[in-house]
Amino acid sequence: MLSTLPRLIGHRGAKESAPENTLASIREAARQGARWVEVDVMLTRDQRPVLIHDDTLDRTTTGTGAVPLLDLAELQALDAGRWFDAAFVGERVPTLEEAVALAYDLGLGLNLEIKPYPGQEEITAEVALNTLRPLWPSDRPLLLSSFEVPCLEVAQRLWPEIPRGYLLWDPPADWAAIADRIGAATLNVHQDRQTADSVAEYLATGRPVLAYTVNDAGRARTLFGWGVSTVFTDAPGRLAAELGVD
Ligand code: G3P
Ligand code: CA
Repeated sequence: MLSTLPRLIGHRGAKESAPENTLASIREAARQGARWVEVDVMLTRDQRPVLIHDDTLDRTTTGTGAVPLLDLAELQALDAGRWFDAAFVGERVPTLEEAVALAYDLGLGLNLEIKPYPGQEEITAEVALNTLRPLWPSDRPLLLSSFEVPCLEVAQRLWPEIPRGYLLWDPPADWAAIADRIGAATLNVHQDRQTADSVAEYLATGRPVLAYTVNDAGRARTLFGWGVSTVFTDAPGRLAAELGVD
């Protein structure tokens, strides 16, 4: 449910202070006072939804190669914290179930970004939503989002009452028609590519605009001044303090 959007959403948890998309990162976001977190979900070879951003394991785990080449058990044998800092050795790639349970227990709102391995758009959305649905009460804030229109179409079909955020980086010419067709509730845009005019054009569709990823308070103030509702940030605690928001 999307009752009110927060000003700040912890990006991949609290990516500046903890290894992204891990349980430690979600905990750290809550510790810093974040009200919501954003995380990325992809499927393993055995079609289990896990939190990871990249198509490959190399950057954020001790593994190598494409994510869907490993089953969940193989993937969870990897270390997902060592690359970030020795203090996080032992962190694993969490399942969506583990992450959702933690976010719920910590009282966080959730933005689940469906991040399919190329070619797995529909199945990733189906599995992620079917996993999340029984775990997330309808009165808790939830936003589903994706850059991939087929993922948003699956969400629209399977769980229409949950708001969908249309993620844009280099928007196609017909982005507004697509947003209408998929019933997008929000437009989630790249902060660096925005001007007052571009934000005004998005707002003219009647949708809140969310901007990723903002770690500088001055830039956040500028975006808020243009009418952006919410920014995704790697440093929710620091930005909240600098901006005087929660
Ligand atoms: O959902 C906002 C943002 O996370 C989208 O970009 O690359 O960080 O997943 P990315
Ligand atoms: Ca993301």
